[in-house]
Amino acid sequence: MPKTNPTILVTGGAGFIGSNFVPFFCRVHSEYQVLCLDKLTYAGNLDNLKECTDMPNYSFVQGDICDQALVEHLFAQHDIKGIIHFAAESHVDNSISGPRAFVETNIVGTFNLLQAAYQHWMEAPNKVRAGYESCRFHHISTDEVYGSLGAEGFFSETTPYAPNSPYSASKASSDFLVRAYHHTYGLNTTTSNCSNNYGPKQHCEKLIPKTIERCLKEEPIPIYGQGQNVRDWLYVGDHCNAIDLIFHKGKSGETYNVGGHNELDNLTLVKKVCAILDEKKPRANGAKYEDLITFVTDRAGHDFRYAIAPDKVTSELGWHPAETFSTGIIKTIDWYLP
Ligand SMILES: NC(=O)c1ccc[n+]([C@@H]2O[C@H](COP(=O)([O-])OP(=O)(O)OC[C@H]3O[C@@H](n4cnc5c(N)ncnc54)[C@H](O)[C@@H]3O)[C@@H](O)[C@H]2O)c1
Repeated sequence: MPKTNPTILVTGGAGFIGSNFVPFFCRVHSEYQVLCLDKLTYAGNLDNLKECTDMPNYSFVQGDICDQALVEHLFAQHDIKGIIHFAAESHVDNSISGPRAFVETNIVGTFNLLQAAYQHWMEAPNKVRAGYESCRFHHISTDEVYGSLGAEGFFSETTPYAPNSPYSASKASSDFLVRAYHHTYGLNTTTSNCSNNYGPKQHCEKLIPKTIERCLKEEPIPIYGQGQNVRDWLYVGDHCNAIDLIFHKGKSGETYNVGGHNELDNLTLVKKVCAILDEKKPRANGAKYEDLITFVTDRAGHDFRYAIAPDKVTSELGWHPAETFSTGIIKTIDWYLP
């Protein structure tokens, strides 16, 4: 019998981070078949994966991770040998107005995948089926599970969980399910908790693409409160490299925090984007794009600051971000410019 390449299931591959990850992963890992499962919600866009269409090791299935029968069928049909799990409802504002979808996809969907992996890869708790010894479940999570920081300090892997929004609470729940499947059943899992990503292909509901879009349309740029909330920005390509490293070299049962060491408050960030656009695409009337900034009522329960110390992934796995914010934001803006 000819040996077939193992199939890795990537969920949520048509979203922002997934659609940066899938082409990269297919290119650098021709030893895998990559099967992308995505429901194509408003946040998923197949156009973001068109560069994969001609790749021989890429295939796509439209479907819901909450659909237990579908997930079990995919495991059996493709003999799935690894999972990289991005699929989620990901926008905090939507979780405030409609939390149910977050509970369903982020918690129940993750549970479905874990249970299917356990049943397919293991005979009983701590007893792996022959041939499935290296199968791994990698779960992508967020630094928001740790709650909010004051002006000082950083999140580490040992920071106690304190999620504040329905989004972060649903992600925290999914992290705990992953933890439980490792501790109870011995499932080979890893989890990464990353800071805010930026880069090409992000949905325009998020701050950086929204700012670029509003500038190009010369419409008001909304900023919550006084724009003082601080986020730690990670270029999406650097995040993809970290996931690849953790999936292949991370220790089973461990979590790894991934951050870009690029802390910026929202107002400074938006002004930087405006200044770059002033250079690249000056407004016809000679005004500055930052004149479009409009402060709006703050988000309910808005966390003040997130910042990650990525020491573990750096020292144990040798990960380093390739981009600074100055280089990453230019690549990002260039991608959005017509
Ligand atoms: N973007 C960030 O800054 C960031 C930061 C930290 C963590 N994360 C995590 O990274 C992952 C990916 O984030 P993103 O920004 O790419 O999200 P995204 O919202 O851009 O994409 C999510 C993708 O999941 C798909 N999806 C949603 N529900 C599904 C379901 N029930 N079944 C199958 N597919 C479904 C959507 O169609 C979409 O393609 C998420 O788990 C998110 O929590 C993101």
